[in-house]
Amino acid sequence: MGTHIAYLITQKTLGKVIVYDSNQLSLEKSKATITDIGQKAIGKAKLLDSEFASMLSRLTFTNSIDSVSNCDLVIEAIFENLAIKQELFAALDKVMPNHCIFATNTSSLSVTQIAAKTKRTSQFIGMHFFSPAHIMKLIELIPGLDTSTETIAKIKDFSQQLGKEVVMANDFPGFITTRLGLVLINEAIYTLMEGISSKEEIDTAMKLGYNHPMGPLELADFIGLDVCLNILNRLYEGFSDSKYRPCPLLKNYVAANHLGRKTGSGFYDYSRST
Ligand SMILES: NC(=O)c1ccc[n+]([C@@H]2O[C@H](COP(=O)([O-])OP(=O)(O)OC[C@H]3O[C@@H](n4cnc5c(N)ncnc54)[C@H](O)[C@@H]3O)[C@@H](O)[C@H]2O)c1
Repeated sequence: MGTHIAYLITQKTLGKVIVYDSNQLSLEKSKATITDIGQKAIGKAKLLDSEFASMLSRLTFTNSIDSVSNCDLVIEAIFENLAIKQELFAALDKVMPNHCIFATNTSSLSVTQIAAKTKRTSQFIGMHFFSPAHIMKLIELIPGLDTSTETIAKIKDFSQQLGKEVVMANDFPGFITTRLGLVLINEAIYTLMEGISSKEEIDTAMKLGYNHPMGPLELADFIGLDVCLNILNRLYEGFSDSKYRPCPLLKNYVAANHLGRKTGSGFYDYSRST
C-alpha cells in the first residue's frame, strides 16, 4: 500500500515524498515496483519519460527513521497491529514539526486509539486508501474523536488533489467499507458451510447478480483469510454483537494455514499459479 500511495502522491503533486520502511528488502521491492509502474505507464503513453524522471527526483527511500524528520504530512501504512502503529506514531510525534498532520491507512483499527499515543490528536486522521492506491478512486476519511475540522478540511482537499472521491466515516469498527465488505464475505462463507451452494456458484451469483467484479470467496482468498478473520474478530469485539461472529469454516481454513492466494490454497487452489 505504501508503495502505491507514494507513487500516487509523487505523480499528482510536486511535493517531495520519502518512503520509510524499517525493512530494506521491502524498500528494494518498493523501488522496483515504482519503476515497473512508471515504465508501464510510459509504454501506454500515459506518462512522459521526463515526467517520470521528475517524479523520481522528488522521491527518496530510507530505512532510517532519523531521516524523516521534517514533513508536512505522514501517511502510515505499516502492519495492521495497534501496538506497532502506536509505537511508530509515538516516535514520529517527537521528531515531526508541530504543523505536521498524521494519517493512518488502517483498514480496521480505531483511529482514536492509534492517535491516543501522540500529543497531536487534533491533527490525526484515518486516510483509508484502496488497493492499488494509484488506481482505485476512493479514499475513506475517518476523523478520530479529537480530530479538528481544520485537519479534516486539509486532508479532504489533499485527497481531492490526488484525484480521489472522498467518503467520510465515523470512527467505529470497520468504518463503512471494511464493515460492509467483511459482513458479505462472512455471510458468503456461512452460505458455503451450510451447503446452500458451491463456492463457484456463490461467487458467480454475486458477480453476475450484483455486478461485483470478484465473488466474495475469491475476494476473501485475495485479501487473505487470516486478515479476514482478524477483522471479523475486531468487528465482533468492537460492537459486542453476535452478527459479526466469524464463521467456523473460516476459522478452520485459518487453523489449517489455507490462507488464500498467499499460501497457494484457500477456498480455491492456486498451487499451479504460485
Ligand atoms: N493490502 C490492502 O489491500 C490494504 C488496503 C487498505 C488498507 N490497508 C492497510 O494498509 C496497511 C499496510 O498494509 P499492506 O497490505 O501494505 O501491508 P504489507 O505487510 O504489505 O506492508 C507493510 C510494510 O510495513 C513495514 N513495516 C512494518 N512495521 C514497520 C515499522 N514499525 N516501521 C516501519 N516499517 C514497518 C513492513 O516492512 C512492510 O514493508 C495496513 O494497516 C492495512 O490494514 C491494506
